[in-house]
Amino acid sequence: MHEASLNMDGAPAAHTGTDAELLLSWYDRTHRDLPWRRTKDPYRIWVSEIMLQQTRVEAVKPYYERFLTRLPNLQALAQCPEEELMKLWEGLGYYSRARNLQAAAIKACAVYGGSLPGTREALLTLPGIGPYTSAAIASICFGEPHPAVDGNVLRVWSRRNADGGCISEASVKKRMEEELRRVIPTDRPGDFNQAMMELGACICVPNGPAKCTECPWEGICRAHLEGREEAYPVKAAKKPRTVEERTVLVLRDAGKVALRKRPGKGLLAGLYELPSIPGRQSARQVQTYLSGQGIKVLRIENLGEAKHIFTHREWHMTGYLVRVDELERLPAGPDAAEWIFARLREVEETYAVPSAFSAYLSALRE
Ligand code: ADE
Repeated sequence: MHEASLNMDGAPAAHTGTDAELLLSWYDRTHRDLPWRRTKDPYRIWVSEIMLQQTRVEAVKPYYERFLTRLPNLQALAQCPEEELMKLWEGLGYYSRARNLQAAAIKACAVYGGSLPGTREALLTLPGIGPYTSAAIASICFGEPHPAVDGNVLRVWSRRNADGGCISEASVKKRMEEELRRVIPTDRPGDFNQAMMELGACICVPNGPAKCTECPWEGICRAHLEGREEAYPVKAAKKPRTVEERTVLVLRDAGKVALRKRPGKGLLAGLYELPSIPGRQSARQVQTYLSGQGIKVLRIENLGEAKHIFTHREWHMTGYLVRVDELERLPAGPDAAEWIFARLREVEETYAVPSAFSAYLSALRE
């Protein structure tokens, strides 16, 4: 696995060494200065690794700092009111990550004496901490030599070995993890894992061509040597996403806007949303629908279309700004309890509204 590259005259090439040596010397020269790379505090590393799942570094940075300022330790996280926790996570997506963080903090306070446990094995007993996150924390903070294997690492490693195994299969992931276990250096496991992540984020990128001329493994990567980087990784075809058409209403009077709390289970559970009705309705249809509900519309304005893409679903939305005289006078229906009439400042400061609605929320600021 560690073939050294030779020049034409048989002399070692400039880039020689084991996989780990090449990778770490590249990492030492080029790595980005990221806020979570200035600490080995398990709480901070844990928060960063959870935020970074499915989310780009640049998107995470401002959330990370704000979250840790407000919730600097496990106790603060365990005690944070749910609404405030959701507000801190607003816009990051995959909100169950935040709920799991809190559930794990509560458990760690109760079972592990108020700090995160100090082994990978014990970390795995906490909600939301799986093989990847436990390996990342244990390698970075405790020096345990476990490879942290996510989709990015699988892409890099399949290319490195021109490995045609399907990375959607658990047995292939497990095999690659075992291979990496033989490569990860025991003296710098955390840096090795972060260097693999760095390679996946900056060089062996998920979308678009790999930047092989900048890669420390240029001379040993089998996919590159074959000129077939694009052929790897092999993965199962994705199921097409379900498309849902919805008509979204910014229903407001002079001072407030109508929100609804989403159900406690399922997509965007427990977050706040703009009310919506199924299908793609015209202004006239919306007006007819609202008068049918006993709501007198003063003015209706088309806010245009917007699209939001979730993992398994797409929302195709049409939005309307609907001016009513007084929201509080809206007739109370059977689900009246779920209506919230929020002041515009409260929408900014208190209620967590997912970014699926941000195209229409901006209509409130005008
Ligand atoms: N992605 C996941 N973990 C990361 C880390 N520690 N640094 C940069 N990107 C990451």
